[in-house]
Amino acid sequence: MGKWVAIVVGGIAVVVGGAFAVLYTVFPMVSEAESIRIERSTDRVTRGQYLAQHVFVCIDCHSEREPDLYSMPPIRSLEFGGGVAYTREMGLPGTIVSRNISPGALREWSDGEIVRAIAAGVSRDGRPLFPLMPYHAYGTLDREDINAVVAYMRVITPVNRPIPDTKVDFPVNLLMRLMPRDPTFRTKPHPRDPVAYGRYLVTSAGCGDCHTQRDAQGNLTGPEFGGGQEFLVPERLLARSANITPDTDTGIGAWTKDAFIARFKSRTEADYRAMPAPRGQPNTVMPWWGYTGMTPEDLGAIYEYLRTVAPVKNQVVTFEAR
Ligand code: HEC
Ligand code: HEC
Repeated sequence: MGKWVAIVVGGIAVVVGGAFAVLYTVFPMVSEAESIRIERSTDRVTRGQYLAQHVFVCIDCHSEREPDLYSMPPIRSLEFGGGVAYTREMGLPGTIVSRNISPGALREWSDGEIVRAIAAGVSRDGRPLFPLMPYHAYGTLDREDINAVVAYMRVITPVNRPIPDTKVDFPVNLLMRLMPRDPTFRTKPHPRDPVAYGRYLVTSAGCGDCHTQRDAQGNLTGPEFGGGQEFLVPERLLARSANITPDTDTGIGAWTKDAFIARFKSRTEADYRAMPAPRGQPNTVMPWWGYTGMTPEDLGAIYEYLRTVAPVKNQVVTFEAR
């Protein structure tokens, strides 16, 4: 009897051990970083700055923010310095800390290694990135836009400070080894096709990530762009995302294109930086201070695309009275 138990237990141990070995040797299953040097032309750096600050808003997740200003712009001296912790209290499986992506931390990285991190989700040392970093979306964009961001990242002011490690709970820490994959870059649609181009921008900006309800594992559970996702900061609800589908009663169906653009353009970044939102008063996680820098053409294309998504009836109270 004891012998059989030993054989069965031993067998399970071999299978489990084998599975671990595969997880750690075969995965993440992505190609080596390319050995390339991305030329840092002025046009490319300018485009990269626009994308990183106003469209992709890399700066939003990768900078500590002013908690007492409306829509929480980044602390100037810490831009791209990382250190934003996404915690269990916010519903995440562990403590995920955004990395320092300024030259203070990435100086030794090759351009190919940075591209791979952004678009395939693997760090320089082969560690898989937690998919809060939207690498799955970035891997479907135009390679030139990613190159532009990398060119810009080389010229931003270095922030020199260490960041605590990301710690992901079991079993997600194992499962996320399966998630990185090689990018499938494609040419971006022409702005003359505003719906297709707007869709590209919405993917770039991650509007759907916040405006669709999701569960604790990050899986989308609500209808796309239907809103209602709750954003918690320790000890309180900050806001719920709005319904941005074209439903007339509960979404933005009654908004004109001009009204939509004006909603983004009504305040400049400087205005947000001068707009206090003391704790206990309404504040939002939507980086209005960043998106306000988008061109009216790009915002117009986003509007055109959002007109084409399925309307969803969902009345959302974005800010709860307290
Ligand atoms: C929604 C938030 C979010 C956005 C937007 C975002 N990131 Fe990240 N990024 C993260 C988090 C969180 C991590 C750390 C993940 C981890 O430690 O597993 C990360 C990791 C990285 C890394 C890996 C660094 C390292 O040391 O391994 C790079 C490079 C990076 N991001 C670049 C970018 C760039 C460039 C953009 C914009 C194109 C961007 N990120 C947009 C959240 C974000
Ligand atoms: C980090 C999460 C986040 C991201 C990313 C985000 N939003 Fe929002 N958005 C919110 C939240 C929360 C609200 C509700 C509070 C508020 O009005 O700021 C909101 C509100 C809105 C509103 C309603 C404003 C009103 O006056 O009723 C619109 C329109 C909107 N978002 C569009 C977008 C678009 C377009 C994008 C992508 C370019 C986007 N959002 C990206 C979180 C986000």
